[in-house]
Amino acid sequence: MPLQKLKPEIKKILTSEELSVDHRLSQVCEILKENVPYYDWVGFYFKNGDKEELKLRSFAGEPTDHTIIPFGKGICGQVAVSNENFVVPDVKAQTNYIACSINVKAEIVVPLFLNGENIGQIDIDSHTPDPFSKEDEEFLEWVNEEVAEGLEA
Ligand code: SME
Repeated sequence: MPLQKLKPEIKKILTSEELSVDHRLSQVCEILKENVPYYDWVGFYFKNGDKEELKLRSFAGEPTDHTIIPFGKGICGQVAVSNENFVVPDVKAQTNYIACSINVKAEIVVPLFLNGENIGQIDIDSHTPDPFSKEDEEFLEWVNEEVAEGLEA
């Protein structure tokens, strides 16, 4: 399904006041994983309190051992300090990478800002080599903005 077509459903989930924030985030992960063929694992990590580490909050796909990731480690940990999108067309080419599954070929991590502060990120693994485009980056930036709005409320 084209990414843009998912926006109304995502907006609806993120503004569902009867759902907890964790439940909303889980549903967004599910809808992304189920509707985008090359999104094989979708998760949200957030800064773990005052610690210099990320903690997995919600995900869809295979459970991962990497529920805590120190800042600077792996693709996720690097985004926690760079504040920039990180698109990895081929995970084998990365030296600072934390492997979650041998099936993963590519990854995209987009930081999530609340009031200008990098407080978390959306992380997507793909079993397809080099699947992510500028459209994915822009779409995931939009998703994170919508999530941030829900966190503010
Ligand atoms: N590959 C990530 C670790 C998280 S998993 O993809 C779920 C990384 O290198 O930071």
